[in-house]
Amino acid sequence: MRNGLLKVINVVGARPNFMKIAPIVKAMARAGGFDQTLVHTGQHYDDAMSGVFFNDLGIPAPDVHLNVGPGTHAQQTAKVMLAFEPVVMDAKPDVVVVVGDVNSTMAAAVVCAKLCVPCAHVEAGLRSDDRTMPEEINRVITDAVCDFLLTPSRDANDNLCREGIPKDRICLVGNVMIDTLLSSLQRAEESDVLQRLGLDGAYALLTLHRPSNVDDGDALKRILDALEVVQRQLRIVFPIHPRTTNSLEKFGLMERLTNMPGITLTPPLGYLDCLKLTAHAKLVLTDSGGLQEETTALGVPCLTLRENTERPVTVTEGTNTLVGNDTAAIVSAAQEILSNGGKRGRIPELWDGKAAERIVEALARRYGS
Ligand code: UD1
Repeated sequence: MRNGLLKVINVVGARPNFMKIAPIVKAMARAGGFDQTLVHTGQHYDDAMSGVFFNDLGIPAPDVHLNVGPGTHAQQTAKVMLAFEPVVMDAKPDVVVVVGDVNSTMAAAVVCAKLCVPCAHVEAGLRSDDRTMPEEINRVITDAVCDFLLTPSRDANDNLCREGIPKDRICLVGNVMIDTLLSSLQRAEESDVLQRLGLDGAYALLTLHRPSNVDDGDALKRILDALEVVQRQLRIVFPIHPRTTNSLEKFGLMERLTNMPGITLTPPLGYLDCLKLTAHAKLVLTDSGGLQEETTALGVPCLTLRENTERPVTVTEGTNTLVGNDTAAIVSAAQEILSNGGKRGRIPELWDGKAAERIVEALARRYGS
């Protein structure tokens, strides 16, 4: 504490971090008593992957930009650590807040642990139990080294207890991304994305970027085989992630995709456009973590093109179904939704738009004087 203020560094790096940090930054400002610094690692750097989210979500410009850019996992993690360490040494914060499960999250948490600076992890405790997934490594390491673990759901608390983490380091606060969704719905409705993309009837929204789906040419081809069938029955809108564009080109599959008449391709979309598209979709096909939750919050059926999920409440309580990347499984699940409307689901506990308030209160209680 300096001058009665809790000195906090909030860290963001990649697209899914922005909707998690936005409500926390705002709740700290509302609560008062915080001296905030926002650090952007630069893991994501294109305007479409980063800048547009600052505008859409009203996040202030970062105070510090580390400009790390792309690289292998080791390169990217190391670059964040090298650049972030002097920032922490210089600022001497009372606590650093990291969110989600991207490389930047883990790198920043490890830096703090080595400097003996407390680090709080928002969205702690999620586990897919799939260690081939880079994010799972990030989750396990981040939670092991962080001082305070702020969890979105009870399953996350159970996972942390199973890993031997003492209960006094764990605090259930709910799903902070839903704070952003609920506070943005009205503005999202004003988006003209449906007109811009020429959508005047039913459509499905598709997103794909997991290495297990797009870095493996056979898996990507199986997914395209399924899309080929589904797009004959329902238009598919596909905002393409840069990783996926690279892979489609590398495996010579881009032309096949662009020749499918029922598919509308677009570059990555901003938050408000994406939220509007999700809210009005007949179904969502995705391998994103965030969209599994957003569809549950909106009551839109979701088919997740993965074998597992670190967000099981979206399946047990929400609208999500895991289908993997097998062609026949994707096609039959999509057709079932087209014929019977799909899962209705209910809103999970603490998806109430107040998670950021609980996070800020918990941080003030733990680190305030
Ligand atoms: C990262 C996260 C993933 C998250 C996803 C959301 C990790 C391990 N992965 O995956 O959890 O779901 O972000 O998008 O942290 N690229 C650009 N412009 C950008 C960013 C990336 O062109 O602004 C390209 C680069 O070629 C880069 C590739 O996309 O090499 C992959 O980016 P990277 O940050 O390594 O991983 P993502 O697949 O985006």
